[in-house]
Amino acid sequence: MTKKSPLSIAVFVSGTGSNLVSIYNAIQNGHLNAKIALVISNKSTAGGLMFARENNITAIHISPNQYDDMATYTEELLNLLKDHQVELVVLAGYLKIIPTAVVQMYKNKIINIHPALLPSFGGKGLYGKRVHQAVLDHGCKVTGATVHIVDEEYDTGGPVIQECVPVLDDDTVETLASRVLEIEHKILPKTIQLFADGKISIQGRRVFINRDEP
Ligand code: GAR
Repeated sequence: MTKKSPLSIAVFVSGTGSNLVSIYNAIQNGHLNAKIALVISNKSTAGGLMFARENNITAIHISPNQYDDMATYTEELLNLLKDHQVELVVLAGYLKIIPTAVVQMYKNKIINIHPALLPSFGGKGLYGKRVHQAVLDHGCKVTGATVHIVDEEYDTGGPVIQECVPVLDDDTVETLASRVLEIEHKILPKTIQLFADGKISIQGRRVFINRDEP
């Protein structure tokens, strides 16, 4: 069977970019049939942008703050995605809302990783360490990570993959974050590969993973 051409992806980051690195490594190791066409960040100092530049990946700083109006910003964003023939947008620690026009143009083709089991501990203002603090404050016994389809709101689209981790009695925000991050680094590349293989089908909020024929 001929190998499919790599799925062209854009990775959006706002911070360190460890999820970007996990995608990059999965591609390098031959576990993920994708190509990072570009990395986009709303923050010029994002570690993820530096990583992209060091590894010869197109890295672009673009933020609504640079534009007089949202319409121009949205158009620029759409042009970037079109110009780089992006097939899947991956939000990997990206903390800005995606404009509605982009969500509509890339319907069911934008995914996000969230460091909790949605719909718990999600929504505007709940990101990064704040999520783990909220999980500890609530006294949860399990938490985890969710990869979900992106819609017009924060963290509300249907889950594609969710995986749990235990919350231990002596956990701090840092220990919990690192246990969850380990899971994130597994399930985000895995989800992208499912898209690359054309194994995802979506009905309403429900996302199905098509199994191979026996
Ligand atoms: C990750 O834990 C990701 O799940 C989280 O930000 C971190 C980014 O880490 N995203 C959110 O909280 C989005 N709501 P990274 O920059 O090292 O990939």
